[in-house]
Amino acid sequence: MPARVAVLISGTGTLLQSLIDAERSYEICVVVADRPAEGLQRAQAAAIPTAMVTPGEFPDRDQWSSALGDTVAAHSPDWVVSAGFMRILTSAFLDRFPQRVVNSHPALLPAFPGAHGVRDALAYGVKVSGCTVHLVDAGVDTGPIIAQESVPVLLSDDEDSLHTRIKTVEWELLPRVVEQLVTRAPIVNGRKVEL
Ligand code: GRF
Repeated sequence: MPARVAVLISGTGTLLQSLIDAERSYEICVVVADRPAEGLQRAQAAAIPTAMVTPGEFPDRDQWSSALGDTVAAHSPDWVVSAGFMRILTSAFLDRFPQRVVNSHPALLPAFPGAHGVRDALAYGVKVSGCTVHLVDAGVDTGPIIAQESVPVLLSDDEDSLHTRIKTVEWELLPRVVEQLVTRAPIVNGRKVEL
Protein backbone atom coordinates (compact mmCIF):
# COMPACT_ATOMS: atom_id res chain seq x y z
CA MET A 1 0.00 0.00 0.00
CA PRO A 2 1.51 3.39 -0.95
CA ALA A 3 1.86 5.97 1.82
CA ARG A 4 -0.88 8.57 1.93
CA VAL A 5 -0.12 12.28 1.98
CA ALA A 6 -2.65 15.07 2.59
CA VAL A 7 -1.73 18.53 1.30
CA LEU A 8 -2.97 21.84 2.74
CA ILE A 9 -2.98 24.93 0.49
CA SER A 10 -4.21 28.53 0.45
CA GLY A 11 -3.02 29.94 -2.86
CA THR A 12 -1.95 29.25 -6.41
CA GLY A 13 -0.73 25.77 -5.55
CA THR A 14 2.54 25.69 -7.48
CA LEU A 15 4.13 23.79 -4.61
CA LEU A 16 1.24 21.34 -4.70
CA GLN A 17 1.89 20.99 -8.44
CA SER A 18 5.51 20.07 -7.75
CA LEU A 19 4.26 17.26 -5.49
CA ILE A 20 1.72 16.12 -8.08
CA ASP A 21 4.35 16.09 -10.84
CA ALA A 22 7.12 14.45 -8.82
CA GLU A 23 8.12 10.88 -9.38
CA ARG A 24 6.69 9.63 -6.11
CA SER A 25 5.88 6.46 -4.29
CA TYR A 26 3.03 7.98 -2.25
CA GLU A 27 -0.54 8.88 -3.01
CA ILE A 28 -1.84 12.41 -2.49
CA CYS A 29 -5.04 11.37 -0.76
CA VAL A 30 -6.67 14.81 -0.38
CA VAL A 31 -5.95 18.51 -0.92
CA VAL A 32 -7.61 20.80 1.62
CA ALA A 33 -7.79 24.60 1.41
CA ASP A 34 -8.94 27.26 3.85
CA ARG A 35 -10.51 29.29 1.03
CA PRO A 36 -11.40 28.90 -2.66
CA ALA A 37 -7.72 28.59 -3.55
CA GLU A 38 -6.71 28.41 -7.20
CA GLY A 39 -4.62 25.37 -6.36
CA LEU A 40 -7.76 23.28 -5.78
CA GLN A 41 -8.17 23.17 -9.56
CA ARG A 42 -4.73 21.61 -9.89
CA ALA A 43 -5.85 18.83 -7.54
CA GLN A 44 -9.10 18.36 -9.44
CA ALA A 45 -7.21 18.17 -12.74
CA ALA A 46 -5.12 15.38 -11.21
CA ALA A 47 -8.26 13.58 -9.94
CA ILE A 48 -7.27 14.13 -6.30
CA PRO A 49 -10.15 14.62 -3.82
CA THR A 50 -10.46 18.18 -2.51
CA ALA A 51 -12.12 19.88 0.44
CA MET A 52 -12.43 23.38 1.84
CA VAL A 53 -12.67 24.22 5.53
CA THR A 54 -13.16 27.97 5.93
CA PRO A 55 -12.32 29.63 9.26
CA GLY A 56 -15.21 32.11 8.89
CA GLU A 57 -17.67 29.27 9.32
CA PHE A 58 -16.43 28.49 12.84
CA PRO A 59 -16.73 30.45 16.09
CA ASP A 60 -12.99 30.28 16.85
CA ARG A 61 -9.65 29.03 15.59
CA ASP A 62 -9.66 25.88 17.70
CA GLN A 63 -13.01 24.76 16.37
CA TRP A 64 -11.88 25.47 12.84
CA SER A 65 -8.61 23.54 13.47
CA SER A 66 -10.57 20.66 14.88
CA ALA A 67 -12.90 20.56 11.83
CA LEU A 68 -9.87 20.76 9.54
CA GLY A 69 -8.43 17.81 11.47
CA ASP A 70 -11.66 15.81 10.99
CA THR A 71 -11.62 16.50 7.24
CA VAL A 72 -7.98 15.52 6.82
CA ALA A 73 -8.23 12.49 9.14
CA ALA A 74 -11.16 11.16 7.10
CA HIS A 75 -8.61 10.45 4.34
CA SER A 76 -6.27 8.55 6.71
CA PRO A 77 -3.01 10.29 5.76
CA ASP A 78 0.38 9.09 6.94
CA TRP A 79 1.77 12.61 6.46
CA VAL A 80 0.26 16.09 6.17
CA VAL A 81 2.11 18.65 4.04
CA SER A 82 1.43 22.35 4.43
CA ALA A 83 2.36 23.70 0.99
CA GLY A 84 1.60 27.41 0.92
CA PHE A 85 -1.05 27.07 3.63
CA MET A 86 -1.28 30.52 5.22
CA ARG A 87 -2.86 29.62 8.57
CA ILE A 88 -1.44 28.67 11.92
CA LEU A 89 -2.38 25.14 12.90
CA THR A 90 -3.29 24.79 16.57
CA SER A 91 -2.89 21.71 18.72
CA ALA A 92 -6.55 20.86 17.99
CA PHE A 93 -5.18 19.87 14.57
CA LEU A 94 -1.58 18.94 15.32
CA ASP A 95 -2.40 16.49 18.14
CA ARG A 96 -4.24 14.35 15.57
CA PHE A 97 -1.04 13.89 13.53
CA PRO A 98 1.86 13.95 16.01
CA GLN A 99 5.23 14.65 14.30
CA ARG A 100 3.51 14.02 10.97
CA VAL A 101 2.91 17.57 9.72
CA VAL A 102 5.54 19.37 7.64
CA ASN A 103 5.66 22.86 6.18
CA SER A 104 7.69 24.59 3.50
CA HIS A 105 8.72 28.14 4.44
CA PRO A 106 10.30 30.63 2.01
CA ALA A 107 13.20 31.75 4.25
CA LEU A 108 16.07 30.22 6.17
CA LEU A 109 14.48 29.65 9.59
CA PRO A 110 14.80 30.65 12.36
CA ALA A 111 15.24 33.93 10.45
CA PHE A 112 12.12 35.55 9.06
CA PRO A 113 9.24 33.34 10.23
CA GLY A 114 5.63 34.28 9.53
CA ALA A 115 3.58 35.25 6.52
CA HIS A 116 6.10 37.71 5.04
CA GLY A 117 9.36 35.78 5.16
CA VAL A 118 10.50 36.91 1.72
CA ARG A 119 9.62 40.57 2.27
CA ASP A 120 11.22 40.60 5.73
CA ALA A 121 14.47 39.02 4.50
CA LEU A 122 14.69 41.57 1.70
CA ALA A 123 13.96 44.50 4.03
CA TYR A 124 16.67 43.27 6.41
CA GLY A 125 19.19 43.29 3.58
CA VAL A 126 20.39 39.69 3.84
CA LYS A 127 22.64 38.46 1.04
CA VAL A 128 21.44 34.88 1.28
CA SER A 129 17.94 33.60 1.95
CA GLY A 130 16.33 30.33 0.96
CA CYS A 131 13.72 27.84 2.05
CA THR A 132 13.13 25.50 4.96
CA VAL A 133 11.12 22.31 5.31
CA HIS A 134 10.29 21.73 8.96
CA LEU A 135 8.06 19.74 11.25
CA VAL A 136 5.11 21.84 12.37
CA ASP A 137 4.57 22.60 16.03
CA ALA A 138 2.09 25.02 17.59
CA GLY A 139 4.40 28.02 17.08
CA VAL A 140 4.84 30.16 13.97
CA ASP A 141 7.42 28.31 11.84
CA THR A 142 9.24 27.12 14.98
CA GLY A 143 9.24 23.33 14.53
CA PRO A 144 12.40 21.22 14.11
CA ILE A 145 14.14 21.75 10.77
CA ILE A 146 14.27 18.84 8.33
CA ALA A 147 16.03 20.42 5.33
CA GLN A 148 17.13 23.80 4.01
CA GLU A 149 18.45 25.22 0.75
CA SER A 150 19.98 28.63 0.26
CA VAL A 151 19.18 31.17 -2.46
CA PRO A 152 21.37 34.24 -3.11
CA VAL A 153 19.66 37.61 -2.79
CA LEU A 154 20.46 40.01 -5.66
CA LEU A 155 20.66 43.78 -5.30
CA SER A 156 18.06 44.05 -8.06
CA ASP A 157 15.57 41.75 -6.25
CA ASP A 158 12.09 42.77 -5.26
CA GLU A 159 9.76 40.53 -3.26
CA ASP A 160 8.34 38.89 -6.39
CA SER A 161 11.64 38.11 -8.08
CA LEU A 162 13.19 36.72 -4.90
CA HIS A 163 10.09 34.68 -4.07
CA THR A 164 10.03 33.25 -7.60
CA ARG A 165 13.66 32.08 -7.28
CA ILE A 166 12.98 30.65 -3.82
CA LYS A 167 9.91 28.82 -5.09
CA THR A 168 11.96 27.26 -7.87
CA VAL A 169 14.12 25.70 -5.15
CA GLU A 170 11.08 24.73 -3.04
CA TRP A 171 9.65 22.85 -6.04
CA GLU A 172 12.69 20.55 -5.89
CA LEU A 173 13.25 20.40 -2.15
CA LEU A 174 9.73 19.71 -0.87
CA PRO A 175 8.98 16.69 -3.14
CA ARG A 176 12.42 15.26 -2.38
CA VAL A 177 11.90 15.57 1.39
CA VAL A 178 8.36 14.18 1.29
CA GLU A 179 9.59 11.17 -0.68
CA GLN A 180 12.25 10.58 1.98
CA LEU A 181 9.75 10.98 4.82
CA VAL A 182 7.32 8.43 3.43
CA THR A 183 10.11 5.99 2.70
CA ARG A 184 11.58 6.11 6.19
CA ALA A 185 10.24 8.01 9.22
CA PRO A 186 12.78 10.55 10.43
CA ILE A 187 14.51 10.23 13.80
CA VAL A 188 13.59 13.28 15.86
CA ASN A 189 15.81 14.03 18.81
CA GLY A 190 14.78 17.33 20.37
CA ARG A 191 15.37 19.89 17.64
CA LYS A 192 17.54 17.55 15.58
CA VAL A 193 15.94 15.64 12.75
CA GLU A 194 17.74 12.84 10.97
CA LEU A 195 16.23 11.74 7.69
C1 GRF B 1 5.68 29.06 -1.01
O1 GRF B 1 6.77 29.96 -1.20
C2 GRF B 1 5.54 28.69 0.43
O2 GRF B 1 6.76 28.52 1.08
C3 GRF B 1 4.81 29.88 0.97
O3 GRF B 1 3.85 30.16 -0.01
C4 GRF B 1 4.35 29.77 -1.27
C5 GRF B 1 3.36 28.83 -1.90
O4 GRF B 1 3.10 29.18 -3.18
N1 GRF B 1 4.28 29.65 2.29
P1 GRF B 1 2.04 28.37 -4.08
O5 GRF B 1 0.66 28.75 -3.63
O6 GRF B 1 2.30 26.91 -3.89
O7 GRF B 1 2.33 28.82 -5.48
